[in-house]
Amino acid sequence: MTGLLGNSLLEICYVIASITFILALKMLSSPDKARKGNLYAAYGMVLAIVATILFKEELSIDKTLNYALILGGLVIGTIFGFRMALKVQMTAMPQMVSFFNGMGGACAAVISIVEFNHLQHTGNFDPGMTIVILLGLIIGSVSFAGSIIAYGKLEGKIGDKALPAGQILNIVFLVAILGLTIFIATMNVPEQTYIYILLALSLIYGVLFVMPIGGADMPVVISLLNSFTGMAAAFGGFLYGNQAMLTGGILVGSAGTILTVLMCKAMNRSLMNVIIGSFGGGGAAAAHGGEQGTIKEISVTDAAILLAYAQKVCVVPGYGLAVAQAQHTVHSLEKALEEKGVVFKYAVHPVAGRMPGHMNVLLAEADVPYPKLQEMEDANDEMGSTDVVLVIGANDVVNPAAENDPSSPIYGMPIIKVLEAKNVIVMKRSMGKGYAGIENELFFHPKNRMLFGDAKDSLEKLIAEVKNL
Ligand code: TAP
Repeated sequence: MTGLLGNSLLEICYVIASITFILALKMLSSPDKARKGNLYAAYGMVLAIVATILFKEELSIDKTLNYALILGGLVIGTIFGFRMALKVQMTAMPQMVSFFNGMGGACAAVISIVEFNHLQHTGNFDPGMTIVILLGLIIGSVSFAGSIIAYGKLEGKIGDKALPAGQILNIVFLVAILGLTIFIATMNVPEQTYIYILLALSLIYGVLFVMPIGGADMPVVISLLNSFTGMAAAFGGFLYGNQAMLTGGILVGSAGTILTVLMCKAMNRSLMNVIIGSFGGGGAAAAHGGEQGTIKEISVTDAAILLAYAQKVCVVPGYGLAVAQAQHTVHSLEKALEEKGVVFKYAVHPVAGRMPGHMNVLLAEADVPYPKLQEMEDANDEMGSTDVVLVIGANDVVNPAAENDPSSPIYGMPIIKVLEAKNVIVMKRSMGKGYAGIENELFFHPKNRMLFGDAKDSLEKLIAEVKNL
């Protein structure tokens, strides 16, 4: 259906889709409504796609080809997305999110190229529109290239590599991108070649920008790339006058920007520092040396006694809890200890795991009551009155080197101060390192004892012992 009625219906559907996106974002901020929020956003997206296919006037110009292309894209995308979502391990979620984010950036860049070619044919260049197209292209391709590198890093396939004079190279690329953008925007009818040069420069910049960033800075970069994709999509929405795309893009862009600011605050870093400082990258070797002392182990029985006779226990969950899929088991330990009168809490570090809110999502999945989850600052305030801290599969987020070793690549990152508690038990499989790839002096501290083994196995044994006491 085309014409006035079709256009009006299209606008109404876009407004409804925009409302579902806003509601979804609101719901995503609380764990018990997050699943529903995700579905709302998906329904809104389906509505926007179907309405575009049915009511968009331009589509009827070359009907058969356009519908065949759209249908082909939908089928391929659905099959890929569905299979990936079904197969993905919970621990590989961050990589998948990064990959999808990259695809969003790529779409925005492709839209810009298509629209640029469109303007080339009509010759209707106006500087304002050209700048919107170019910004969509630059931000979309930086986000695509950067997200694919981030995907490789989270997957462990790409290491942190800082090129010699990398910062200068980055600045050279940025200046070249800016110069070329102004040059293209001021031309009457720009040549197509320029936009491909701009695309290549932006892709290379995306790779160079993320390549040296490592360790503890990855969370900030991931949220920054997220906001880039949102902005690029918003430019696309602006180009097409598409409210649903514009609202979606603005929401993702602004949510990503707020998250980036929060992550920077959590990591005690300025954004500029993250972008040009390559904190945590390349310097991992710096924290390897030093006197380490000996480690003390604890048996399951002794650990169970310590826990069962404690007044207050605090669990610090980390990436290893997600690897072991031990979220339900830790919730069972919580219940077993609470039956014995123990006060049980969780201390959640903002970058524990591999994606923002990873631990919150994981624990919510096991129905851990949300009020039991303490943010880092509150948990640190209560650490002195905690009898036993159980560090489960966490490493970097409890590494004291962040506070007392200026040569450490994670120096300056706030940590959960587990050593202020009366007893510390670290549960992990070996002396293996965390994401930042550095030793952890906590493991050698006289106050700490190690309970080696897979987190889920050890927790199951602990529960059995606690119940026998
Ligand atoms: P990590 O420092 O990565 O340490 C995880 C530990 O879990 C490892 O040392 C590992 O030791 C242990 N582990 C793995 N599998 C286990 C299992 N089955 N059972 C028991 N333990 C297991 O984790 P963290 O403390 O959560 O810190 C997160 C790190 O990731 C930070 O450096 C952060 O900057 C980075 N990062 C975070 C994000 C976001 S957004 N959260 C994104 C990218 C990177 P063993 O091998 O010895 O068992």
